[in-house]
Amino acid sequence: MQSLVVLSGAGMSAESGIPTFRDMGGIWEQYDVTQVASPEAWRANPELVLEFYNQRRKKLFESEPNNGHLILAELEQWFNVQIITQNVDDLHERAGSKQILHLHGELKKARSTGNPNLVYELKHWGLKLGDVCEKGYQLRPHIVWFGEAVEAIGQAQAIASIADIFVVVGTSLNVYPAAGLVHYVRKGVPVFVVDPAKPLLGNNNNVTYITEKASTGLMKLKEMLTPQ
Ligand code: APR
Repeated sequence: MQSLVVLSGAGMSAESGIPTFRDMGGIWEQYDVTQVASPEAWRANPELVLEFYNQRRKKLFESEPNNGHLILAELEQWFNVQIITQNVDDLHERAGSKQILHLHGELKKARSTGNPNLVYELKHWGLKLGDVCEKGYQLRPHIVWFGEAVEAIGQAQAIASIADIFVVVGTSLNVYPAAGLVHYVRKGVPVFVVDPAKPLLGNNNNVTYITEKASTGLMKLKEMLTPQ
């Protein structure tokens, strides 16, 4: 089976009602990222950081995968689909995709501030001061904050380098190292970009832009890639 690798971003979940970061009205228009998504923010005001992620987690518990997520899961009938996502939601999982790598963490998980290997599934959207791990350390969101290392980037680069088809969905390609993954795609491998806008890739693969929303654009892509 050919390897179809997907790099997804916030636009993938926009039709599920989850706001993106840099579009009009996006998350970074409502919050100052340095106040809610960095180790300094956590040290300065952990309650504000917890509340920021609690609100997003509450929204996620009320959201469902959209047709774009479902189509990516369906493509596993024809391809070895591997999804590298910048998203911290679990909508790819809930749509049925089997191979998902989260670069920036997972909103429905919390981890110990005393031992980063202690990670817990959250069954409820609220995480508060005083919620501790089995060793008694405060739990924090299992999210990669600005200024923290993207531990999974090596694995993601390896996956991108074996793609036979590379699909970029719903990301402005503003944030590195995730945005740099397009440079690990072998020369000659077709790249498809599904996004109402046209993020610049800056590489020399043959790029096909499908300037549509995720659900419509991925339906078109499926028609292009699978027997009709
Ligand atoms: N379908 C597809 N794409 C969409 C849709 C949609 N319905 N709506 C918006 N988009 C596109 C926008 O045109 C834009 O290119 O999704 C992209 C969203 O870009 P960002 O808001 O910058 O989100 P993303 O690229 O995922 O941000 C990367 O930045 O803040 C950090 O950690 C955060 O993972 C995030 C990273």
